[in-house]
Amino acid sequence: MQDTPPDSLDSTPPTPVDADIHEILAARWSPRAFSDRAVNPATLRSVFEAARWAPSSGNTQPWSFLAATRGEAREHARLAGVLNERNRLWAQDAPVLGLSIARLRDEDRALRHGVYDTGQAMAMLLVQATALGMHVHQMAGFDVEAAQAAFEIPGDWEPMAAFALGYRGDPAQLAEDLRSREMAPRTRRRQRDFVFTGRFGQPAGFASAGAD
Ligand SMILES: Cc1cc2nc3c(=O)[nH]c(=O)nc-3n(C[C@H](O)[C@H](O)[C@H](O)COP(=O)(O)O)c2cc1C
Repeated sequence: MQDTPPDSLDSTPPTPVDADIHEILAARWSPRAFSDRAVNPATLRSVFEAARWAPSSGNTQPWSFLAATRGEAREHARLAGVLNERNRLWAQDAPVLGLSIARLRDEDRALRHGVYDTGQAMAMLLVQATALGMHVHQMAGFDVEAAQAAFEIPGDWEPMAAFALGYRGDPAQLAEDLRSREMAPRTRRRQRDFVFTGRFGQPAGFASAGAD
């Protein structure tokens, strides 16, 4: 059975939006402190089902995932083993560890959107996990070659990001430097710095607050 979704989304540091966004998107956040509450198999299936229904160029679905729960201790430890030390410090306690893997070639053809589509599938997974009261923290800090070898990932595929998934834990369980990063204010570039009209670099008229 799937875990009961929370009445309200898990509390996260404030997300200072400049325009309204869906509460699930505002609640998505990458914590380091995870609780030891297990994620049950049906819940995990939902999370990966969301990835399954992501759009992709030509419906190529060029993504794969490796994942293990703490119950699968050996596999969980093997995934923790490819993380760099700084990430392993906090991520090894997450109830689920995983790896997103993008297909970069299909027979002799380069899949130009393989990485893009895998990122989209991952974003869907993040949204579903957040809707179910969980959080996901992705990590570029892992040994790509070690992962490729350890998990027998074929050469046409490339590991993209490791991730930790689970319910939020208490920041007090973190070492001091990680705890202060956990509590740090969330920041983003302004829309006018990345939404353009006419030519690259020219802010779109609607992209500034107070434009209407
Ligand atoms: C591809 C990717 C790689 C990342 N790598 C790491 C990492 O190695 N270690 C880490 O602590 N956070 C990592 N992050 C998390 C980002 O730092 C985080 O998403 C960003 O600071 C924005 O914070 P938020 O996700 O809480 O909004 C990564 C995120 C992504 C998408």
